[in-house]
Amino acid sequence: MKKIAILFSGEGTNMENIIKTLHDKKIKVVKTITNNSNANGIKRAKKYNIPTIIVDNKNFNSREDFDKELVSELKKDNLDLVVLAGFMRILTHTFTDNIKSINIHPSLLPHFKGAKAIERSFESDIKEAGVSVHDVTSELDGGEILLQKSFKKEDMNFTEFEKRIHEIEYSLYPKAILKYLGEKYE
Ligand code: GAR
Repeated sequence: MKKIAILFSGEGTNMENIIKTLHDKKIKVVKTITNNSNANGIKRAKKYNIPTIIVDNKNFNSREDFDKELVSELKKDNLDLVVLAGFMRILTHTFTDNIKSINIHPSLLPHFKGAKAIERSFESDIKEAGVSVHDVTSELDGGEILLQKSFKKEDMNFTEFEKRIHEIEYSLYPKAILKYLGEKYE
């Protein structure tokens, strides 16, 4: 079975969804890593007996030193892919030159790169919104797009809009991971 690690920073619902949908069925989630020792996602991973390594960015003097530690943790396992799921750190070449990874972003890239993408996408005049899965490069939310799904905003309120974004994330990300790894999705 192909092996992945998942990186997250907060709630970890995408991480949990990937574990629920794919772990021990299609792929193995070997470990998770978070930069936030208070992240709710830590409890979620624990439910499935998947370890979470805490690499707190506050303990490092530079982005490069933090990234070096991530790389060294990730190189311990012979991983096929690293999956970023709500991992809210800007990564440098130290990471991207050494680790093959993909990311999910809650907008139709190249629109609304960076933070608060759901809010900015909701407030904009653009009539469509969506979710993108892309290759990670050192350019923030800038790598090649792997999969994208859009929907019409119509007269949704913000709660409905946010719910729709997350529903799409939960169906799109497992598909994108399997597609990337060359595995079938049924
Ligand atoms: C998700 O909506 C994800 O797309 C977004 O953070 C949320 C994490 O939620 N990621 C980004 O904005 C990356 N720039 P989760 O922790 O519950 O999966």
